[in-house]
Amino acid sequence: MLRGQDRRQAMMLLGGGLLAAGCGGVPSARSEEAAAASLHELAAAKGLRFGTAMAARQLDDPNYVEIVKRECGAIVAENEHKIYTILAEEDEWNFGPADALARFAEEEVLAMRGHTLIWSHPRWLPDWLNNTAFDAQGAEAWIDSYVARVAGRYSPQVYSWDVINEAVDDKTGELRETTFTRAMGFDALTHSFHAAKEAAPGATLAYNDYMSWEEGNEGHRTGVLRLLERLKKDGAPIDALGIQSHSNYNMPNEFTAERQRAWRGFVDEVVGMGLDIYLTEFDVNDTRLGPDEAMRDRLIADYTKDYLDMMLSYPQTKDLLAWGMVDKDSWLQTFLPREDDVEKRPTVYDSDYQAKPMREAIVAALRAAPVRS
Ligand code: G3I
Repeated sequence: MLRGQDRRQAMMLLGGGLLAAGCGGVPSARSEEAAAASLHELAAAKGLRFGTAMAARQLDDPNYVEIVKRECGAIVAENEHKIYTILAEEDEWNFGPADALARFAEEEVLAMRGHTLIWSHPRWLPDWLNNTAFDAQGAEAWIDSYVARVAGRYSPQVYSWDVINEAVDDKTGELRETTFTRAMGFDALTHSFHAAKEAAPGATLAYNDYMSWEEGNEGHRTGVLRLLERLKKDGAPIDALGIQSHSNYNMPNEFTAERQRAWRGFVDEVVGMGLDIYLTEFDVNDTRLGPDEAMRDRLIADYTKDYLDMMLSYPQTKDLLAWGMVDKDSWLQTFLPREDDVEKRPTVYDSDYQAKPMREAIVAALRAAPVRS
């Protein structure tokens, strides 16, 4: 039985044929070219990683698994590394789902990213933890022991961790309050980075958030810049900003020149701080587009190309991770549902596991990207 790299190469050849055939009879020169190399290989040729989020339940979906093995060089657990999965109840550790994904990554020679050690938002922390009233020392000790246990367990496999996720209130730009920040203030964040460095010294460490180019995001962007500046000033061992890259509220065709300028200003400031960029959760929400599939796919593909052209032009951008590879499994199917109830098309493959124009757009953006070290 072929394993790992050999197996992925074989799947890629097989997948090329399937892809071409899957796109409707006689393969076009364009689809053949697009199918000739996997997204992972095209990315790797430029010093980038391409990968996807994956849920443990998708290990039981052979079609999903095949796409991941064929296209990806990395996976990230969609929910399995979150505190609400690992420690939903106090003292009841649940590493099973994350371990299953880690085993799969190891067997298939896929790199693994970690998302996320501390989701700094009470909505996504378990109730028992929200209801624990720490003093500063107690909060520090809890963070130390949790991060040591989780990041330590997956070290050195996990090459990069989102140490802190979504700590900035998108409306006010201020720090969200959690049981940890109530006890320690901003030091809760800085301290988490030190704890992660200690537990996973070989992993790069990121702050991850969903600020974007979209209308109404100015305050969120400013809040994130302030947070990054403070982390740097306080000596946190931070290597990168995770730019989630969900585009949720604007139409994909509203990535106008003016918005691009403002967004570039933000990214310039981030890299100006010496940070790398990881595109950690790419997908495109078509909530506000009309129902016509071909039209939606085209607008989504055009936006994908424009957005990735800009983001991959930064040599500091190291990872491009999709937030899921198949439409039917996307979190967006239930978030901001379409009024017409038509299935959304936010990812690279449709619900019949066929590649969509978004894939061609990613191929084109990867081919156009400069090589990075
Ligand atoms: O586990 C239960 C399951 O037992 C139950 O049957 C099912 C019924 O709805 O719910 C399941 O839990 C859901 C879980 O996903 C697993 O599918 C939660 O309700 C649901 O809220 C949770 O949503 C996840 C969300 O984060 C919140 O953690 C999405 O799958 C996941 O895609 C999303 O990912 C986030 C990133 O972590 C951070 N950035 C934004 C991104 C999208 O929201």
